[in-house]
Amino acid sequence: KRKVILDCDPGHDDAISIILAASQISPLQIEAITTVAGNVEVEKCTYNALNVCEMIGLDVPVAEGAAKPLKGGPVTAGDFHGESGLDGPELPTIPTKGPVEQHAVDLIIEKALQTEQKITLVPTGPLTNIASALIKEPGIKKNIEEIVLMGGGTFGNWTPAAEFNIWVDAEAAKHVFESGIPITMFGLDVTHQALADRKIMDMVAAVDHPVAQFVFELLEFFSKTYKDVFNFEAGPIHDACTAMYLIEPDIFECRHVHVDVETSGEYTTGMTSVDLLGVTKKEPNVHFAVDLDKEKFWNVFEKALRSYVD
Ligand code: BDR
Ligand code: CA
Repeated sequence: KRKVILDCDPGHDDAISIILAASQISPLQIEAITTVAGNVEVEKCTYNALNVCEMIGLDVPVAEGAAKPLKGGPVTAGDFHGESGLDGPELPTIPTKGPVEQHAVDLIIEKALQTEQKITLVPTGPLTNIASALIKEPGIKKNIEEIVLMGGGTFGNWTPAAEFNIWVDAEAAKHVFESGIPITMFGLDVTHQALADRKIMDMVAAVDHPVAQFVFELLEFFSKTYKDVFNFEAGPIHDACTAMYLIEPDIFECRHVHVDVETSGEYTTGMTSVDLLGVTKKEPNVHFAVDLDKEKFWNVFEKALRSYVD
């Protein structure tokens, strides 16, 4: 099985991504979950990650990471995920397990240094932990197979130019994008195609299992915030694209292009500059997802949920 670390800020779509990655149809071995400040404060993200694990019966180490970006103070995602970061569902338990003592950055380094098999990092929040690990121990680079991340795009959702995850810690993102590690990137261009509309919600509701019920409640809340804030007909399950890609890469069409991260623009801080036409002549550093096959996507999604029943 392919070894992964899920680095996240749950977050509704982060939670759904964990649920897919941990499903019976997943070819992944989740080595750890690491948390980072993003959607809400890091302590809340850690609590939510532990709670999701408990809910779905996933027993992996959860390590808490950065409480704020490399530079500047903490930021949160306001209305999108509610006060708790996972508003909506009645969370069924107070997690009985706590996080491990080790800091997320040290756990990432430790796992990456275990060289018998390379590791894939799957960040679905700001890239603070990943950049910090690369800065603290640059030697881990050669043991990272790929970074499969949600962030950026050719337009923004936090500013007109910048997507939230990249905007929160643009310095960290720049470091990661310039690291030379193979990157597959799910930006807004493709994640906005993963819309959990009514038909999808009905499909999820028809799966008779508490995990599917949990996903349904997550989607209900998330769809409502996207309706209120952006007048979207449904919520895009951004982060879940990473897990879906790792389960079934064929769902997505990617372009191998050069991507730079803007750290100091007047209007563009946190923007990913995606060179789709090759105008910079710079070496491609990112497999940039441009399209997804909706039918395949939701079929695999349903299979993953149903695998909890069997
Ligand atoms: C990203 O921001 C967060 O609110 C979501 O969890 C996702 O990772 C989308 O811009
Ligand atoms: Ca996220």
